[in-house]
Amino acid sequence: MKEIKSIGVFTSGGDAPGMNAAIRAVVRTAIYYDLRVFGVNRGYDGLVKGDIFEMEAKSVANIIQRGGTFLKTARSSEFMTEEGRAKAYQQIQHFGLDALVAIGGDGTFTGAKKLIDEHQVPVIGIPGTIDNDLQGTDFTIGYDTAINTVVDAVDKIRDTAESHDRVFIVEVMGRDSGLIALRSGIGIGAEAILIPEAKMDFSAMLNRLDKTRKNKSSRIIIVAEGDEGGGAFEVADRVKNRFPHYDVRISVLGHIQRGGRPSCMDRVLASRLGVASVEALLAGKSGEMAGLLGNEICFTPFDRAIKHIRTVNPHLLKIVDILSM
Ligand code: F6P
Repeated sequence: MKEIKSIGVFTSGGDAPGMNAAIRAVVRTAIYYDLRVFGVNRGYDGLVKGDIFEMEAKSVANIIQRGGTFLKTARSSEFMTEEGRAKAYQQIQHFGLDALVAIGGDGTFTGAKKLIDEHQVPVIGIPGTIDNDLQGTDFTIGYDTAINTVVDAVDKIRDTAESHDRVFIVEVMGRDSGLIALRSGIGIGAEAILIPEAKMDFSAMLNRLDKTRKNKSSRIIIVAEGDEGGGAFEVADRVKNRFPHYDVRISVLGHIQRGGRPSCMDRVLASRLGVASVEALLAGKSGEMAGLLGNEICFTPFDRAIKHIRTVNPHLLKIVDILSM
């Protein structure tokens, strides 16, 4: 195995609050261990195009508290091709990068795996996505901030819903995953939560919703973007069809969930995983994602980390049922 003297770091896929804290941790850990460290702009696109620059400790000063990713992120169609990856490898050689740290989600790790298989470049991944849809870590960087953003927004919606005795259908992000909806839904005391991982008997849900009228004047249904029953507009139509007398409103929270200052939990998670990723490369690891399971750092092979397992903690679902009366 080649000795690692120089590493590159990049963010890829959808941005997530806490990515900057992770970049900072990678850069400073590399310097701590006397490595040279390079930032790659715009993810795989920058790797293919050689948009790469050397970083110092001060390059990452004053970014731990900032949302987004200062290295930027992009989707690269070129890197999806074998020729594109060969170009990326040429740039890796040109800049003398011995290993990479890839911060992102399933698409990022799928790309990293190809780079390892085709060009034997050591890569360690750090989970950065608001969706929390990766195996091998209890939480991904960005998830905690995103659910707190949802809670903050829906608390405000609750104030106006309560004042007008309205039913609000709030759509949250999660293209393939209901984890943002589930946790934030419990946090705001939702009357119902619709997620792709749990098939909902819609008519039973509507009966329950109607029953809750005796206990409260506002009702909030949280819908995950990826729910099979459709998005907020479809759900609102179905509620209106059954209860035409309900005053129903819709709110789609959208990309506000991806921005903002990372929570302390995300900053600490990013810092721990950033340090762990560089130490893992130095210990000879590759093709694995650093994660946190039960507060312990652990490593999961990329193909296991990106496996979509469509289940959620049944206790959390039961909590919704018990408490939404
Ligand atoms: O991957 C995170 C995520 O926030 C999804 O939940 C969402 O569907 C998607 O990104 C939207 O990304 P964009 O609009 O930037 O393509």
